[in-house]
Amino acid sequence: MHLSLPPALAERIRAARRVVAFTGAGVSKESGLATFRDGVDSLWQRFRPEEIATPQAFLADPPTVWRWYLERWRTAAAATPNPGHTALARLNDLFPSYLLVTQNVDGLHQRAGSRGVVELHGSLHAARCHACHRRMEMERAAQQHPETPPQCDCGGLYRPAVVWFGEMLPAAAMERATAEAEACDLLLAVGTSATVFPAAGLIELAHRGGAAVIEVNPEPTAFSGLADLRLEAPAGVALPALAEEVARCRPAS
Ligand code: OAD
Repeated sequence: MHLSLPPALAERIRAARRVVAFTGAGVSKESGLATFRDGVDSLWQRFRPEEIATPQAFLADPPTVWRWYLERWRTAAAATPNPGHTALARLNDLFPSYLLVTQNVDGLHQRAGSRGVVELHGSLHAARCHACHRRMEMERAAQQHPETPPQCDCGGLYRPAVVWFGEMLPAAAMERATAEAEACDLLLAVGTSATVFPAAGLIELAHRGGAAVIEVNPEPTAFSGLADLRLEAPAGVALPALAEEVARCRPAS
């Protein structure tokens, strides 16, 4: 993909010191992972979130919820990062301050080399006791307990270490993401429908704080109107082209 940035935006990118990349399920689509809301194979098309992604659903039927998340964990563990993930990791080195904030739980940003990733919705790669919050690796849990969730020494059940509907986002992660969104000079919104709050509010915060906003998404979203630039292409195509242009605009920091 050939990309030429509007001169005013290229200048803002050249001068940018603090950058936030905010990602959603679309960035992992080219790694073969289903999104939540777009397409017939999307996760919430097949299941209603309240059947599977709430504390009530887990307590009502722990094995069903456990097996659904183990299946998602297996798929994520078997997937490989795509050029979109790699380009976002490359951007790390091009700005003095760069924070990647993701709603994804698949761990693919970290595997592509991104450092200090803020996971707003937790991770599929760990389980934690719903009562005492003790953690264990999902790999070990999956090997030893493929059908029903393991029981903790405290008597509670282990559950996936993700954030479910009706639950608070991890406070420290949300505070960090909010502070960076408010202070940043440039925000990239990649592969997110931006429909789930409070995470989706980060785009608006950045815009109100004066940041340039670049949206990477083949489809428009509720926040497209705020974007200074929309790249209407898959992340695996648009992000490598964008990283190339950013590298051209700026010397490495
Ligand atoms: P969604 O499924 O809501 O949105 C995925 C977005 O990715 C859509 O806007 C698509 O147009 C876009 N998309 C599809 N293919 C793409 C590609 N190749 N490159 C770039 N974009 C592409 O997923 P999220 O916005 O991540 O929360 O959903 C947010 C939250 O809602 C999730 O974290 C999850 C879900 O319910 C919880 O489970 C708490």
